[in-house]
Amino acid sequence: MKTLVSPSILSADFGNLQADIEMLNRSEADWIHADVMDGVFVPNISFGFPVLKAVAKVAQKPLDVHLMIVQPEKFIPEVKALGAYIMNVHYEACPHLHRVVQQIREAGMQPAVTINPATPVSLLKDIIKDVYMVLVMSVNPGFGGQEFIEHSLDKIRELKALIKETGSNALIEVDGGVNMETAPRLIEAGADVLVAGSAVFKAASPEEAIRNLKQ
Ligand code: DX5
Ligand code: ZN
Repeated sequence: MKTLVSPSILSADFGNLQADIEMLNRSEADWIHADVMDGVFVPNISFGFPVLKAVAKVAQKPLDVHLMIVQPEKFIPEVKALGAYIMNVHYEACPHLHRVVQQIREAGMQPAVTINPATPVSLLKDIIKDVYMVLVMSVNPGFGGQEFIEHSLDKIRELKALIKETGSNALIEVDGGVNMETAPRLIEAGADVLVAGSAVFKAASPEEAIRNLKQ
């Protein structure tokens, strides 16, 4: 499979979000990654649904919504109203993960489960066949521009093996510290989808950065 790129608008220019979304529309980006933070599950607050509604109006690519919030199931209707393609919830935020995954599917979206750096891949064994994608956090969630955690490569390899062993079709997405140095190693380890914030938006040419990550 060709590697997909999902630029994270957390690093976009919030003073002119429309221009950055239009840039992503023109670019080779596959999806648009949107990081919602609540200041409870993670030590930061990003943006919420009123802002994402404005983004969705301009976006011409599928929305990959990453909820770094407690009780994400409360917001399934809001995420659905955006017309989102993927709803990413954290393993650590869902004591009834199986139910949440079912509810996301019933709402007509693709369910994805995200694991923090300290959450073992083995905990996904009983959910892996029910999810569209697993998002492996390669930094601690909450901020853009952090340093890549090397151990994430082992986790991706382990996840790839679990997917194969169980006959699951889940995609592997990776988020945090993805750049031109880490991307080839992540793809080699088995990543299917790369999320990139600063590597795209802090680049001299974001469109070129997206193209380079895809190669
Ligand atoms: C971090 C977010 C990421 C963030 C990645 O909590 O989930 O999506 O935007 O930023 P970079 O690519 O700069 O590490
Ligand atoms: Zn994210």
